[in-house]
Amino acid sequence: MTGIADAGLERTIAAETRLSDVQGQEGILTLAGYSAEEIAPNATFEEMVYLFLRGRLPDRTELQDLSSALAGARELPSHTITLLQGAAERGVEPMDALRMGIASLDSGDASFENQAATLISSTASIVAAYHRLAGGNEIVWPDREPGHVRSFLRMVNDSDPGKEQVRALETYLNTVMDHGLNASTFACRVIIATNTDLVSAVTGAVGALKGPLHGGAPGPALDMVFEIGSLDRAESYLRTKLERGERLMGFGHRVYRVRDPRADILSVATRRLYESGQGDEALYQLVVGVEEIALRLLEEYKPDRSIKTNVEYYTALLLYSLGFPTELFTPTFAVGRVAGWIAHCSEQRSNGRLIRPGSIYVGDRDRKWQGLEDRVR
Ligand code: ACO
Repeated sequence: MTGIADAGLERTIAAETRLSDVQGQEGILTLAGYSAEEIAPNATFEEMVYLFLRGRLPDRTELQDLSSALAGARELPSHTITLLQGAAERGVEPMDALRMGIASLDSGDASFENQAATLISSTASIVAAYHRLAGGNEIVWPDREPGHVRSFLRMVNDSDPGKEQVRALETYLNTVMDHGLNASTFACRVIIATNTDLVSAVTGAVGALKGPLHGGAPGPALDMVFEIGSLDRAESYLRTKLERGERLMGFGHRVYRVRDPRADILSVATRRLYESGQGDEALYQLVVGVEEIALRLLEEYKPDRSIKTNVEYYTALLLYSLGFPTELFTPTFAVGRVAGWIAHCSEQRSNGRLIRPGSIYVGDRDRKWQGLEDRVR
């Protein structure tokens, strides 16, 4: 690496967007003009999708139409189900199954709106259906009644969720719907900029999200709290980790230099869940207590770094409280993020420029061809 290239593109502005803005120094996340704290806990998932796709909140009829479109696209084609069944028999990872499932959808010649509805709905259906199949259970198909998040919870858990559970998951999905030009969103924009179809763009985005540097690791954050077990063990456990130069999961962020605003939104959403009598309040108290000690110790061991709580810490707690196993965490992230990907595709199409950055050639020149018999090592 010569150091000339902006290899991570941090110094490159590659798009103009009205979808989200991440102010890492101040800890401010704006989603389509609203602060994340304002919109995420109040909007339904459908309202948020409409806002992202159309740039404003829907009226009652528009909301009804979008809800019906999502509900109508919920059942997967039979060839996708067969593919998921085969994947479950082979023990394929859930993110691989999601990528295969999305790729199996017809790109067809449906309108952008119809393709968007199919992809948003199918992402939730594939994640839930594969979870059921991988556990040796039948797929659950809810009726066509509107309510994307309620249906998703029904498909995953095979039971009717409470109002607070729906609200908690809806808040999570809204919170993670978009986050600047993250890797999967950029991948999606690069793909759609070639004028290909939405199915191809979303398939590529799922592949990018699967990577451990992007899809995040809420599972390890929760594992750390489980290993600690009780608050009186927290300080010595965390100190030992830091003394060994290990990282505390759920803390630190490449962009945020202050507390990730999404951590607070999810912390409040999880607390509401416990206050409504659902979930494990003792675990919630442990998570909050461990966070306090971790922040104090990070300040002590890394005083110049400003390492604060990130979104993963409370994502883990929220999804666990909804009864989700850790292998469902990253696929559930995709259930929210897919709407952001599609909104970016729509923006990219209207800006309409092929993305083709330059590169600096650092290899040899003027090499001479040698036949196989002349090549000596
Ligand atoms: N615990 C302890 N030390 C940390 C942590 C942490 N969680 N995060 C950063 N540091 C320290 C590093 O050890 C390093 O210290 P040093 O300079 O003394 O060697 C310093 O801070 C800088 O580390 P970088 O990796 O360069 O910082 P960056 O800001 O790029 O790191 C990252 C961001 C990768 C998220 C990091 O904070 C981390 O590994 N956190 C733990 C894993 C985690 O929670 N990941 C989820 C992130 S949220 C998301 O992806 C949606």
